[in-house]
Amino acid sequence: SEFTSSRKREHLEICCENDIETGFAGFDDIRLVHNALPECKLESIDMSVRFLGHNLSSPVFIAAMTGGHPDTLQVNKNLALAAEHFNIGMGVGSQRAALENPQLSDSFTAVREAAPKAFLCGNLGAIQLVEKGPEWADKAVEMIDAQALCIHLNPLQEAIQPEGDHDSNGCLKAIDELSRTSKYPVIVKETGCGISRETAQKLWSAGVSAIDTGGLGGTSWAAVETLRAEDKNLINLGRNFSDWGIPTAVSLIEIAGFEKPVIATGGIRSGTDIAKAVALGANLCGMALPLLKPAMENSDSLNKAIDNIHRELAVSMYLTGSKNITSLSKSRTYITGITRQMAGF
Ligand code: FNR
Repeated sequence: SEFTSSRKREHLEICCENDIETGFAGFDDIRLVHNALPECKLESIDMSVRFLGHNLSSPVFIAAMTGGHPDTLQVNKNLALAAEHFNIGMGVGSQRAALENPQLSDSFTAVREAAPKAFLCGNLGAIQLVEKGPEWADKAVEMIDAQALCIHLNPLQEAIQPEGDHDSNGCLKAIDELSRTSKYPVIVKETGCGISRETAQKLWSAGVSAIDTGGLGGTSWAAVETLRAEDKNLINLGRNFSDWGIPTAVSLIEIAGFEKPVIATGGIRSGTDIAKAVALGANLCGMALPLLKPAMENSDSLNKAIDNIHRELAVSMYLTGSKNITSLSKSRTYITGITRQMAGF
């Protein structure tokens, strides 16, 4: 577990100091239809959403990033303060290290302390769920008094790490069992390679409450692992897979529209990207990297970044004549380029 926690800190630093974004998320291929007669007031735009029974002020979701090392406490606290201040949802990073070693749980419990009322999601890898069973899932939820639990899938990252877990047998069964027995909603997320239509179908059948695309086009774990690696063959392996996966916009088109809650994450970089994702069927939009950098500075920088994102979202809504998120979700989009080809239109 000490190993897991030091790796975590290394990841944060690598993400902030290097270009670790690869591939394309597809949002450049999506255009919202301009409405020259919005017939509404910019300042009265309502960005609020309801998600898994919770009222949130906007679809912005602070995607899972960190915790489990004392050096991550302040970052997590800043993220949590923002979640509370804006009344937006937040996911914590993998709680594995803190479950293995409860001394490392401070950086997670601090999140709930800083955000007593916020919609918080716990986080655990599907492989840990297979190994440790639903008791660990319950413990992860209890640790931060979470409203939901995210189970992450990261076969690419595991596959290119020599010390990674290379056996994903039993993940779907474990997710199925947890979804059917837990008292809290289970959200399944990818971490940069997207969820296909076929995978989503299996997850809905397993009874999960929501799916997070975690698509290609933002933070790439293959890129992060490549930077961490010293072995030449590993570096080549990581490079080879740095643009592997389903772009977020394509994943969203494949899995949204089943009247099930969907979170779009992976390469969402502005309030306009959020508006596009909502128009394609997303209920929430997760951002990790764009919020990590300001959160590493201070609470004020992070709040300003989120204010800017909200402003971009509000202007995008205004210019499509969408008074609220329901209206935005019904607005028409132009889908062009590779995204259109991949989506099969
Ligand atoms: C992540 N992500 C992540 N996801 C997860 O389920 N558990 C985790 O522990 C982490 N850890 C983590 C650390 C850091 C530093 C980053 C940047 C990301 C993945 C994250 O939630 C998200 O799915 C991807 O980063 C894609 O979003 P962005 O970064 O492109 O906005």
